[in-house]
This record gives sequence, structure tokens and C-alpha cells, in this order.
Amino acid sequence: MKQISLTGIKPTGTPHLGNYLGAIRPALDLVKNFETVYFIADYHALTTVQDGSTMRDNIYKVAATWLALGLNPEEGLFYKQSDIPEIFELSWVLSCFTPKGFMNRAHAYKDKVNKNVALGEDPDSNVNMGLYCYPCLMDADILMFNANVVPVGKDQKQHVEFARDIAIRFNKKYGEILTVPEPLIQEETDVIPGLDGRKMSKSYDNTIEIFLDSKSLKKKIGKIVTNAQSIEEPKDPDTCNVFALYKLFATREQTTALAERYRAGGLGWGHAKAELQAVLEERLGAARDQYFHLLSHTEEIDKILAYGAEKARIRSKETMSRVREVLGVF
Ligand code: TRP
Repeated sequence: MKQISLTGIKPTGTPHLGNYLGAIRPALDLVKNFETVYFIADYHALTTVQDGSTMRDNIYKVAATWLALGLNPEEGLFYKQSDIPEIFELSWVLSCFTPKGFMNRAHAYKDKVNKNVALGEDPDSNVNMGLYCYPCLMDADILMFNANVVPVGKDQKQHVEFARDIAIRFNKKYGEILTVPEPLIQEETDVIPGLDGRKMSKSYDNTIEIFLDSKSLKKKIGKIVTNAQSIEEPKDPDTCNVFALYKLFATREQTTALAERYRAGGLGWGHAKAELQAVLEERLGAARDQYFHLLSHTEEIDKILAYGAEKARIRSKETMSRVREVLGVF
């Protein structure tokens, strides 16, 4: 039997090409080797996204993004966390087995406290209980669906280790009830360069969103920083921000061909940028059409999520009844 992988997607903003290559594509590739669970962690986002219409938009955008990029709702599970009430039931149960000290040591909380202290504020200033208990909700996400592996970036490793630890404690007391998960660390192999050549990141304001119409994409690509070489001059592809992005999307043949044109001279930055646009349209154009289609037919997304929730709840009810049984809460 295949192992189960579980991927949580927080709906906090519009995903960019760095998210696509670094997280979304590798996560979608998991279907080859795992029984997959993907879900939208909307109640996790609630610790920071507290405007209803923004939340709703974010949920639809993130669902449309993953579906357009190839997530198949028939395969494995795809649901929205807030549609599975058992997760919150389990979250409470697990919180009763979680040492408070764990939460004090959780990175996100600790960072916030350190910042407050540095500013001379009360250590818990602007810390809501949701942020503090965030790891307990995440434990429930993971343990509910018997995940064997949880693919995460380094920043989330500690959270998966908490889930592991809590599952072990729980099982020690009650028998083999919960599956003990393991983090599957997604190493960032390539640094995906942003418009200014630094790592593509929202905090640097140098991102290219995954799905832009041709005109907006052209405008964005126009902002990629290049040097002042003239059209005639031969150019070095290996130090060029445009080329660095191009080769992440192009085939090997396309990459070699463009590198030769760089070195030969006669290729201006405008030409190079047009090549990048062409390759992005080629790779992501069809997905973009699907994305915009879904966003203008959100009732299709509603249906997919309702279907996913129905399937997921069969499993969550099973887990919860096993847990309730051993706890003696009947
Ligand atoms: N905390 C994760 C993030 O910020 C999202 C998430 C919520 C998650 N629940 C999860 C990830 C369970 C993996 C497993 O990206």
C-alpha cells in the first residue's frame, strides 16, 4: 500500500513563480509515489487574515491555482480545512496532550515575542491565541488523515516534529491509534530569482505571479533588471536574471539555443525578455486559462470542495471515533 503524504496550503496571498517551482510543482509530483492529501488551511490563515472578503478571495485563488496546475480532485483528497469539523475536535484533544512549553518554543510565536521584547513591548503584544495554538491545529491536520509524510519547507519542520511527538505520546497511553508522521524536507535546489535577481519573495517585492494576462506579464518581465549592454554586444547568459528564469521553464534544447544567441551578440534585452514571455506562455498559458475560468465560475470550485469534504469526512470520522473510544468520551 502506498504511503500517505499530506500537504497544507495556507491561503494568504497570490502565489508567484517561486512558489510554483519551489513548492507547488514538487507537491503535485507527489501523486507519483504517494496517496496524496491536499487541503486549504483556511483556519490557519485566520490568525492573520481577518477580513472576510479577502479570505474568500484567497481561498478561491489558491484552490483555482492548484486545480489549474494539475491537482486532480478525483485522486486522493482535496478539501478545505474549515469543512472538516472533526479537525477542531481533534485539535482540542491533542492540545490536552501538548506540553505548554512546546508552544512557547514554537518558532512563529518565539519570533513574535523576541520582536516585541526588542521593541520594549509586552512580550505577548499582538499575539492571539490562534497564533499561539497554531501548532496544535496543525497536529490535528496531520494526525487526522494518518499522514506518513508531510512535505514542508524548513520553516515548518518543527511543526511536523511536534505532531510526531504528540502522536508518540498519545499512542504510548492508548495504543497504536495515531500514525506517526515524518517531515519530508523540500530542499530548495534552485534559488528562483526575482525581478531584481535576489530570491523571489513577497518580502522583497520582486515577484512574478503565476497567472498574469499577457499584457501584465509583459509589464512585469519588463521590470527584470538587466545591465546596460547594447544590442550588438555578446552577452553572458549565466549572469543574466532573464536567462536564469528562462532556463527554469525552457527545455534543454531551448536553453542551449538561447544561450548561443546571447553569446553571439545581436540579441537585445527586449528580445531576451520576449523569449522568456514566450516560454512562460507556452508552459503556463493553458493553466492560466483554466485558472481564470475557475475564478469566474467559483461554483465549480464550491462543488469540488464539497465533494472533497465529503470524501475526507469519511476518514476524519473514522479517526475521531477511534480517538473518542479510547478517551472514553462516548
Ligand atoms: N503552516 C503551514 C504553512 O504555513 C500550512 C499548514 C497548515 C500545513 N496545516 C498543515 C502544512 C499541515 C503541512 C501540514 O505553510
